[in-house]
Amino acid sequence: MEFNNVYGDSQRAEAYAKLEFPGTYYLAYRDIPELISGHVKGTRALDFGCGTGRSTRFLRALGFHATGIDISEDMLKQARELDPEGEYYLVEDGSLSPVRNEAYDLVLSAFTFDNIPTMEKKVSLFDQLRELLVDKGKILSLVSSPEIYTHEWASFSTRDFPENRLARSGDKVKIVMTDVEDRRPVEDIIWSEEDYVIAYRQAGLEIAQKTKPLAKTSEPYQWVNETTIAPWTIYVLKKHIQQ
Ligand SMILES: C[S@@+](CC[C@H](N)C(=O)[O-])C[C@H]1O[C@@H](n2cnc3c(N)ncnc32)[C@H](O)[C@@H]1O
Repeated sequence: MEFNNVYGDSQRAEAYAKLEFPGTYYLAYRDIPELISGHVKGTRALDFGCGTGRSTRFLRALGFHATGIDISEDMLKQARELDPEGEYYLVEDGSLSPVRNEAYDLVLSAFTFDNIPTMEKKVSLFDQLRELLVDKGKILSLVSSPEIYTHEWASFSTRDFPENRLARSGDKVKIVMTDVEDRRPVEDIIWSEEDYVIAYRQAGLEIAQKTKPLAKTSEPYQWVNETTIAPWTIYVLKKHIQQ
């Protein structure tokens, strides 16, 4: 299957750079500080798939020394413009070579695995990320729930893509981001919870906590389905220790 990273595109990168935490994105990031304080000790962090640096700056605001890596030069250009003091590296697809010799207390991957096709590639990257962790280090893997591609949301629409309903784990799906000027659909890979569990296990990782955040009616957003269906799944992962 051919799969192109839609973020390797200057127009999309410019639009993404203006994005902070509106609507459904607020919900994605809302619980991360608490998850981190419950699971992570230390301040060295890697932001895998940092894009335009939103997630890297988020980690920095929480007190981490955060390094961002991404395969899209267009996205990194925006990250560096927004954050000239930040540390951002281009990586080749499937490789983490610029940070190979580092050790991290936390690896954050926010939405990145939505854009990584195949079990083999996912396992290889999770395995490489695990190797960068200190013994008690954690990976925070924030991914789209399959339901995001078949419902409407404060920040996304999928109504023009009824074919998403037939998609199986590993297939391409389309979604439109409604908070940005660039309304061209984003192409993602849908991936089931069962397949994430397999990928983590094969990469030598264990789930320390899983959350599926739901929105509250008291929050100041025009929620659509977010109060009853979780658009995101957040996994806190630790190294599997052989007994
Ligand atoms: C949806 S963006 C999320 C950006 C950022 N984490 C955030 O929350 O704002 C996903 C990013 O993952 C990057 N990406 C996709 N495949 C990757 C890979 N194999 N290695 C590193 N980054 C990758 C894309 O280029 C894109 O910038």
